[in-house]
Amino acid sequence: MFPLIIFLSLLLLSPANLAAVRPVNNNNKYLKLPLLRKSPFPSPTQALSLDTHRLHFLSLRRKTIPFVKSPVISGASSGSGQYFVNLKIGQPPQSLLLIADTGSDLVWIKCSACRNCSHHSPTTVFFPRHSSTFAPTHCYDPICKLVPKPGQPGQVGQAPKCNHTRIHSTCHYEYGYADGSLTSGLFARETTSLKTSFNKEAKLNRIAFGCGFRISGQSFNKAHGVMGLGRGPISFASQLGRRFGNKFSYCLMDYTLSPSPTSYLIIGNGTGEVNSVYTPLLTNPLSPSFYYVRLKSVYVNGLILRINSSVWEIDGLGNGGTVIDSGTTLAFLAEPAYRLVIAVMRKRIRFPILDDPTPGFELCVNVSGITKPEKLLPRLKFGFHGGAVFVPPPRNYFIDTEEEVQCLAIQSVDPRVGFSVIGNLMQQGFLFEFDKDRSRLGFTRRGCGLP
Ligand SMILES: *[C@@H]1O[C@H](CO)[C@@H](O)[C@H](O)[C@H]1NC(C)=O
Ligand SMILES: *[C@@H]1O[C@H](CO)[C@@H](O)[C@H](O)[C@H]1NC(C)=O
Ligand SMILES: *[C@@H]1O[C@H](CO)[C@@H](O)[C@H](O)[C@H]1NC(C)=O
Ligand SMILES: *[C@@H]1O[C@H](CO)[C@@H](O)[C@H](O)[C@H]1NC(C)=O
Ligand SMILES: *[C@@H]1O[C@H](CO)[C@@H](O)[C@H](O)[C@H]1NC(C)=O
Repeated sequence: MFPLIIFLSLLLLSPANLAAVRPVNNNNKYLKLPLLRKSPFPSPTQALSLDTHRLHFLSLRRKTIPFVKSPVISGASSGSGQYFVNLKIGQPPQSLLLIADTGSDLVWIKCSACRNCSHHSPTTVFFPRHSSTFAPTHCYDPICKLVPKPGQPGQVGQAPKCNHTRIHSTCHYEYGYADGSLTSGLFARETTSLKTSFNKEAKLNRIAFGCGFRISGQSFNKAHGVMGLGRGPISFASQLGRRFGNKFSYCLMDYTLSPSPTSYLIIGNGTGEVNSVYTPLLTNPLSPSFYYVRLKSVYVNGLILRINSSVWEIDGLGNGGTVIDSGTTLAFLAEPAYRLVIAVMRKRIRFPILDDPTPGFELCVNVSGITKPEKLLPRLKFGFHGGAVFVPPPRNYFIDTEEEVQCLAIQSVDPRVGFSVIGNLMQQGFLFEFDKDRSRLGFTRRGCGLP
């Protein structure tokens, strides 16, 4: 993830921040979890499943609850290119805004150890001392094996120096993101409050999360933490999925709308019949957190681009492929495909192309004097394995960068060291459904009003 700084008044990208928007080099700077990326994952699922039968509702124990939900809003009004999801945590509940991230697993929040916290404004950090249900996990707890430890990049599954006869040996974690951002602190459990399908507040106890005392990097700009929704066992989606069915969905609303409309992250069976189209989810054993899909073809104005299918494949080292990532703002396409998109768009575009594009972008046009440039911009279409076709509107890939200037918000990536990404901008206005039990991803343009 990286911050895309957007000032709502002008929708201007500040050049100072563009350096952060761009991958610093081809070394996957925009990606998540480089630390875990190349390490074979042990199979800790078992350890966790032993434990999660204890994860249950405190209040609505016997009722069948098809899903729980939490509001999702764009962070654009506070200058973030992320989407934030509201999490109520602790007893009494403290309300915080976390980045909704399908590209990582850990749920973590900024924590403050202070007792008299009048110098910290509430709702920007979590105060464990104000919660009666906060419980640090012991380093010997099986769940502790699922988080990376300080000083051991990538060494998931090892907890050295854990003395299980000592009561106060808490579980420490350190979690890194591909842009170099880092969080570390105590791995703990807490009670969360969520809205159910019946619109009642329900409490779910023993959610495992990182209580972050040290945080570095700019990615978390304005957010109070990250809600990892990835495929690994410690993600929010996986922890709750064991209770509600391994499925979640969300709709990211157009970030330019003000006031920012609310939609929901739904965990469980909340979408009903919405006529989604589906494509199989793929797994990459070398990168088990990500939701991979098989992108097969790209069209510009209905014309299929001639791209060698090997461009989209995941190679033997785990590179390549395409992931759906709500925590990355822009889209990234494998270099050979990106080149063709740029070349064909240049020919098809009906606006003057800037000789001097906004830094960080390659294709920018002058839309001066046109009230609805969207209608005249080239149309992209993506074909996925299984026949699902994704037709995003141009506002999902052309963004305002300066007054009267729009740029193609797609970047290139070398598939031999990285992978293609459908970022959050590209996902706007569609309901995305991650159905892990049936191993498929669904999407539909209709359904953002649900539930
Ligand atoms: C907390 O801090 C405030 C402001 O510094 C002070 O007025 C108050 O007495 C403190 N309360 C306690 C319990 O220490
Ligand atoms: C573990 O902790 C106990 C109690 O503090 C201590 O007696 C014991 O020596 C420790 N063991 C190791 C291997 O450090
Ligand atoms: C999900 O809900 C829909 C309608 O609300 C229902 O038809 C379907 O059977 C449910 N699926 C599961 C797996 O419970
Ligand atoms: C596609 O790429 C692969 C690997 O680079 C190559 O072996 C193959 O010949 C290419 N196919 C076509 C039709 O260009
Ligand atoms: C866009 O075109 C208008 C009209 O031709 C011109 O006045 C303006 O300077 C151009 N803007 C940029 C950024 O090139």
